[in-house]
Amino acid sequence: MAANLEAQIQSSGNIVLDRRYAWAKAEAEDGAHAAAADILDQIVAEAPRWAAAWFALGVAREKAGDKQGAAVAFQRLAELDAEGLFGALLHLARLGVTATPERAPESYVRGLFDQYAARFEMHLVDELGYCGPALLRDALRRAAGDGGFQFRNFIDLGCGTGLMARALSPHFDHAAGVDLAPLMIGKARKTGLYARLETGDLAAFLRNESTGSADLVIAADVFIYLGSLDEVFSETARVLGQGGLFAFSVQTGDDSVSVSEDGWALGKDLRYAHSENYLRRLAAQTGFDIVLLEAASVRRDAGRDVPGLVCVLLKA
Ligand SMILES: C[S@@+](CC[C@H](N)C(=O)[O-])C[C@H]1O[C@@H](n2cnc3c(N)ncnc32)[C@H](O)[C@@H]1O
Repeated sequence: MAANLEAQIQSSGNIVLDRRYAWAKAEAEDGAHAAAADILDQIVAEAPRWAAAWFALGVAREKAGDKQGAAVAFQRLAELDAEGLFGALLHLARLGVTATPERAPESYVRGLFDQYAARFEMHLVDELGYCGPALLRDALRRAAGDGGFQFRNFIDLGCGTGLMARALSPHFDHAAGVDLAPLMIGKARKTGLYARLETGDLAAFLRNESTGSADLVIAADVFIYLGSLDEVFSETARVLGQGGLFAFSVQTGDDSVSVSEDGWALGKDLRYAHSENYLRRLAAQTGFDIVLLEAASVRRDAGRDVPGLVCVLLKA
């Protein structure tokens, strides 16, 4: 999948167009978005099936202030990229052209993280100050209190490269991880900390787990790729035994995204934001007590802390 995406991005199959594409990208990097859009317009006229060029054209047009033109480019991209690798549907939803999907398309997430796997930790941890696993470990330690900080069966939803298991080790006996991106799973496997790893969607994974089989379920910086969390909450409640803990982080969004009082929304950064009331309502509906729900930022974006929440729920 990643190789497919790389190939589409890197080449139109025509060396002259490829050079012009590189020129357009350089213009965009310099902030000359209208100039980039002009060059890309000419490229798609000659290579009308090159998805990467339509994607770059949509981005350049939007940044140049031409939202309508951007929507046309993303619509064409959606037709060409049936697998959804470029996330055209998310862009169209963000522009208000189509309804917001309930979750990011699987192929988009898989492509994104397969490409990202090799530099994930360096970029996310070192450059964006990612601290989700450390914050969740600290939250769990406080939530567990005198009850002890040791877990029998831990499930890591969207485990990525395994940072969460590393942060929690040695406080669990058995860990299972699931992630959509095979190359992230490959990195997680190398930690040697997971007894079981599966490549796939986290909701499907939960559906296959036995009732009451886990005492800890974690999702660190994963719900940013899901809008509706209804099924994840109800399945996690089923999979956790009584007294089990469900710990996760969410993004709450800033002025650029309008999250309803009791819901979720897709932000400009193509990540989903969730409201505190939505989490409280789902927790109540699915039989969880809220042990801890507090403001926390797990990562920076464009030099600013991304506002969010860290939450620990107890299966009543
Ligand atoms: C920002 S990374 C966080 C990884 C890890 N939890 C950590 O804290 O380092 C988000 C991860 O969630 C995975 N992911 C997103 N949506 C998913 C889904 N529906 N099912 C399984 N994994 C998913 C991505 O592939 C990616 O590896």
